[in-house]
Amino acid sequence: MTATGNFDKYKYYMASVQSPEEDMKFVNQAFREARGEKAVANILREDFCGTFANCTAWVKQSDVKVAYGVDLDPEPLAWGNKQHFAPLNSVQKERLKVIQGDVLSPDLPYADAICALNFSYFLFKERLELKRYFTNCVKTLNKNGILVLDCFGGSSCTEPNEEETEYEDEGYSYFWDQDMFDPLNNHALFHIHFQLAGEPKREKVFTYDWRMWSVPELRDLLLECGFTKVNTYWEGTTEDGEGDGEYSITEKGDDCESWVSYLVALK
Ligand SMILES: C[S@@+](CC[C@H](N)C(=O)[O-])C[C@H]1O[C@@H](n2cnc3c(N)ncnc32)[C@H](O)[C@@H]1O
Repeated sequence: MTATGNFDKYKYYMASVQSPEEDMKFVNQAFREARGEKAVANILREDFCGTFANCTAWVKQSDVKVAYGVDLDPEPLAWGNKQHFAPLNSVQKERLKVIQGDVLSPDLPYADAICALNFSYFLFKERLELKRYFTNCVKTLNKNGILVLDCFGGSSCTEPNEEETEYEDEGYSYFWDQDMFDPLNNHALFHIHFQLAGEPKREKVFTYDWRMWSVPELRDLLLECGFTKVNTYWEGTTEDGEGDGEYSITEKGDDCESWVSYLVALK
């Protein structure tokens, strides 16, 4: 990720695609549903953490929650230090540690829950690479630990298209651009563009060159790597057929144009 002049790309990225409080509530829900109504995860590791927004939301949840963020790139980590870490109080700061490093490293901190969100593990295009990653997760989870992944798909992800989301009150548009999909290996190229009101469009602010992994492929691989069970989640719908943001465990999805699901793998 590179800087784009004075334009604060992480600010617009966060406002458009991240919901840290909701995501961390989902980790609590997934832990309870995996381990029992009274079970609580205290130690989180956010892999591919970028600006570590999820770590920040986690340590704010209670005064015993500890978070570790791991990312290779110093640029989003530095942004997170200024925008997310600095405003925390001193006890929250003590419970949050960020590591500039590789999620494949065997020396990462152990956790009750590891999350790899916004599809970051799609960056591993080879099955063997993803296998190394999942094996490292199972090894570095505490007893009863869980790995939380999100996944997306649907027919609109396998053909070039660009979707604009207007944030009128904030004065900008977000564009999710599906540029290329190769059906022989499921490699896909996506871009995020932004346009501030009255300004030219800022093209390719973020680019994702990755592999669209399917839920059954992921489930098989997670079990092969030593996880004992995989819970798959699907979003509920409102009366007019839109996603309602509530996810529940199910074995049955719907063949919609575009969907996001969660997989929760139990150690
Ligand atoms: C798609 S961004 C996601 C950032 C954040 N998880 C989010 O929800 O927005 C992917 C991040 O993964 C990081 N990354 C890629 N490969 C990595 C690796 N092997 N180890 C650690 N971080 C990695 C990149 O530096 C980048 O910040």
